[in-house]
Amino acid sequence: MLNFTMSLPTEVCFGKDSIDKLAEYINKFNGKRILLAYGGGSIIKNGIYDKITAILNANGIFYKELSDIKPNPDISSVRDGVKIIREHELDFILAAGGGSVIDACKGMAAGAVYDGDPWDFYLRKAKLTGTPLPVGVILTLAATGSETNWGSIVSNAKTERKLPFRHELLRPKFAVLDPCFTYSVPAYHTAAGIVDIMAHVFEQYFSPTDGAFLSDRLSEAVMKTVIHYAPAVMADPENYEARANILWAGTLALNQILTYGKMTDWATHMIEHEVSAIYDISHGAGLAILFPNWMRFALDEDTQPKFVEYSKNVWGVSADGKTGFEVAHEGIDRTTEFFKSLNMPLTLTEAGIDGSRFDEMAEKAVAFGDLGSFRKLGKNDVLEILIMSL
Ligand code: NZQ
Ligand code: ZN
Repeated sequence: MLNFTMSLPTEVCFGKDSIDKLAEYINKFNGKRILLAYGGGSIIKNGIYDKITAILNANGIFYKELSDIKPNPDISSVRDGVKIIREHELDFILAAGGGSVIDACKGMAAGAVYDGDPWDFYLRKAKLTGTPLPVGVILTLAATGSETNWGSIVSNAKTERKLPFRHELLRPKFAVLDPCFTYSVPAYHTAAGIVDIMAHVFEQYFSPTDGAFLSDRLSEAVMKTVIHYAPAVMADPENYEARANILWAGTLALNQILTYGKMTDWATHMIEHEVSAIYDISHGAGLAILFPNWMRFALDEDTQPKFVEYSKNVWGVSADGKTGFEVAHEGIDRTTEFFKSLNMPLTLTEAGIDGSRFDEMAEKAVAFGDLGSFRKLGKNDVLEILIMSL
């Protein structure tokens, strides 16, 4: 286990009607003039928009709106947000949506205190030096963990890049997590979110650090919770218990609690970002295709014990009379079957993606250096995983 420091400053307000605390939270973090940011209209259809604006109006809180933030958010939305913030001297950003809206808002928060183009942060050309604007979140989709974490992933359609920008100061001030707000998430996005949560745990669980026993058991608990509740949430989108457990699992999967004390991998995420930077595919669907293939690629004599641990502890695979490799493969196959049961695509071909741009994708994936830590990947390894995923 490695040394670490920990700070998880986001206040989480979890449960039915937790939105009732919205004004209290905004006041607590000194929000006087607010940017209300959201996506393509789901919050208008499901009534969350009306609830938010009723609270803002009833409490005399000034706000301006930015709508239509797209999935895999584009840097143009971040620039638009910064413009509105400056024009109206706004001091607080309220993100109402899934990871795309939250990530774009984090970009705006940093961009508002920077003189240049916010895309510089993602290109690693600029470092955050000032204090970003505070961000509050009303989460509507269980998936990314962005509601309490330090990451912002933004695309640039013009250059076909999708890049992360991470900073501790990007963690939201508060997050309102009402499982009922996720009832209206369509089956496809519910499933993609479930895959994303599993993938976040994989990226931390498959680690070269020995002795992180507690972290591994916590990771297994998160994965087993998701596997346990996935069928219920797919069969009955308004199953409160299932939605609540998956929502909380999504937050725990990527607020760094599973990372402390160990090295993490993140290679598959970096490869997926290259896929969704070019093709119109949701992040979770891309991961459903890539992750089992990364597992098959990463499995060798050295890594096999970790895959055996995964198979036994997460999927209950019996090791009786089997070789380590057989047990490991069974766990990987169970992962694929699970993603299949969620109706996720299992090959790039199925998702309408061919190999014509693989070389460019692999090149970009390693632009900042080799990927991974559990299994280091250079450009040719990335290419091989992409080819395996066709
Ligand atoms: O845009 P609207 O109309 O709101 O519709 C959204 C969108 O079409 C819809 N939706 C969200 N909540 C809903 C709903 N529809 C009905 N009812 C609701 N309650 O779902 C669609 C997908 O939303 P999106 O925000 O894109 O999904 P998600 O939360 O999965 O976010 C994905 C983005 O986050 C990035 C991904 O790469 C991708 O760009 N990630 C961010 C991370 C982070 N910040 O730490 C880590 C992740 O690994 C990931 O890379
Ligand atoms: Zn992810």
